[in-house]
Amino acid sequence: MNIGSVILNKRKALGYTQQVLADKLHVSFQAVSKWENGTAYPEVELLPVIAAILGISVDALLGYRSAVVTEYENRYQTEDYYWGVVPNRLCYEIMKLRPPIKPLKVLDMGCGEGKDAVFLARNGYIVSAFDVSDSGLEKGKRMAEKCGTYVDFFKANILDYRLSENFDIIFSSGVFHYIAPNIRTEITENLKQYTNKKGIHAINVFVEKPFIERAPDEEAAERYHWKSGELFTYYHDWLLWRTEEVIFDCNSGGKPHQHCMDIMIAEKK
Ligand SMILES: C[S@@+](CC[C@H](N)C(=O)[O-])C[C@H]1O[C@@H](n2cnc3c(N)ncnc32)[C@H](O)[C@@H]1O
Repeated sequence: MNIGSVILNKRKALGYTQQVLADKLHVSFQAVSKWENGTAYPEVELLPVIAAILGISVDALLGYRSAVVTEYENRYQTEDYYWGVVPNRLCYEIMKLRPPIKPLKVLDMGCGEGKDAVFLARNGYIVSAFDVSDSGLEKGKRMAEKCGTYVDFFKANILDYRLSENFDIIFSSGVFHYIAPNIRTEITENLKQYTNKKGIHAINVFVEKPFIERAPDEEAAERYHWKSGELFTYYHDWLLWRTEEVIFDCNSGGKPHQHCMDIMIAEKK
């Protein structure tokens, strides 16, 4: 997709006229029209502004689809649920620590096909969930409908999505290794800032160990294993309910291998 079609599709999805988008960008509606019909391109310095207004990354605005997105789109094409339908154990721990006896807002970051988001919604939480994969989000929506519940599924990239409203619970499983080291502080600080007092973060992340080889189906590009224990250091000023490191067997890609993962539950005091 070229930039013009991305702008056109996103603008329509947001219900903006060309004039509305033009006003937000301080350009003429003719400029927007030219971008959309491919007779002109926006100035380079406008790209981050357009992307922010349309709620997408600059990469997505330029029509770039990363290898990671392609990989997950392929995995999620089937009727079956690639990650199964059994909720992550962390969801039960969330329920124990913060039972939904009052309205609690949850955000599932990198929700995949939505098994955890749907489980939490079924149990009474107010759940929003995002991923970069359209097919994952579609499957999540279908699962929620089937279960007679609702999750606010939306497409976003964890690398450039920043919270601007508060949540009580932030959950993320198997996703933080897409966050490069140089933006980890910024992302975790934003998540911590927009978490209500007594709110919790339940997160796991793949970590590097010299004695564990990288998975055979894992592309090095765009994946950045964390240092062992690193995740916990970003939460030194929160109460750490659980900090655990586990090694587990995996058969993805058809070849048995192992992963090491740090698991954390932290509470904002
Ligand atoms: C290992 S799967 C985990 C899915 C889900 N959390 C689960 O446990 O079932 C990783 C997920 O992260 C998503 N993902 C990868 N890069 C992402 C990014 N930059 N922003 C948001 N999601 C991303 C993938 O599309 C995929 O669904």
